[in-house]
Amino acid sequence: MSAITEFIKQLPKAELHIHIEGSLEPELMFQLSKKNKIDIPFKSVDDVQAAYQFHNLQDFLNIYYAGASVLITEQDFYDLTWHYLKKCHEDNVLHTEIFYDPQTHTHRGIHFDVAINGIHHALSDAKKILGISSNLIMCFLRHLDEADAFKTLQQAEGHLDKIIAVGLDSSEIGHPPAKFAAVFKKARDMGLLTVAHAGEEGSPAYIWQALDILKVSRIDHGVRAIEDEALMTRLINEQIPLTICPLSNVKLHVFDALAEHNYQKMLNRGIITTINSDDPAYFGGYLNQNYIDIATALNLTKKELVISAKNSFNASFISPQQKKHYCDRVDSSII
Ligand code: HPA
Ligand code: ZN
Repeated sequence: MSAITEFIKQLPKAELHIHIEGSLEPELMFQLSKKNKIDIPFKSVDDVQAAYQFHNLQDFLNIYYAGASVLITEQDFYDLTWHYLKKCHEDNVLHTEIFYDPQTHTHRGIHFDVAINGIHHALSDAKKILGISSNLIMCFLRHLDEADAFKTLQQAEGHLDKIIAVGLDSSEIGHPPAKFAAVFKKARDMGLLTVAHAGEEGSPAYIWQALDILKVSRIDHGVRAIEDEALMTRLINEQIPLTICPLSNVKLHVFDALAEHNYQKMLNRGIITTINSDDPAYFGGYLNQNYIDIATALNLTKKELVISAKNSFNASFISPQQKKHYCDRVDSSII
């Protein structure tokens, strides 16, 4: 094992950008499709992997929604989440903030309570059994209308103890953050924090809207911020974190190669950058793989990796005391 791989493996980390539906491995997809008698457009695990060649975000989303259709029962959501949490344990991820897309499931006739209860149950077991802390973020699908997001927020009302924030994901271009101004205001009034995917494929204008209109605490992806100097200054001055997903960005052609990724430039400009996996079953790896591959491609230093790990805790929605506790663990892990 290379020295940098070893260094990354023992570094305590948080993950802040992971779609739980994106951690559905082909093996579990097949198992659930058989059990639940749901047809999927693949004949074998190899067939699934061969389909994972994406030209852009939409290309990926089409396959991702098809895959998610095998999730039916609370136990299915538990198993999906538990599989991801075991990966966290292997990767020394001590805290994770998980996205899920209720509309992907309610639109297939799955009751709202099924997904959230299954995911929540696995998260509470992970705290007890693996010592991993977590928060759950409920995302609205931006290709649907705001009325549907309002309906979803209403369905969440009996579950507010399980959700820390609302987010915004799915097809970015043509669906600006401003489309969801009113439902995000309602969510904030209900005491929820807000985040949004912006500046993955969309222009920096979408990042401005996420900040000004949705009042987000952090930006998911945000890599196109680098095209707008005034925006960079704002992100730096207000210390707005970016949850960056290196392997995802290459798989979806946001960058041609990892060596061209702007992660290191962003970090060295003073942006609060974090490394994340996005949809690990689809993009080639869980959190450590993202750290290892970006560190190797950009020659990230140990110091830059330590900053990234501390950023991941400091950008999370845990208390200042918990942040300090985890950052102290980062310091004492350094070899
Ligand atoms: N972008 C937007 N929506 C998503 C993504 C993403 O990277 N992954 C899952 N849903
Ligand atoms: Zn994402």
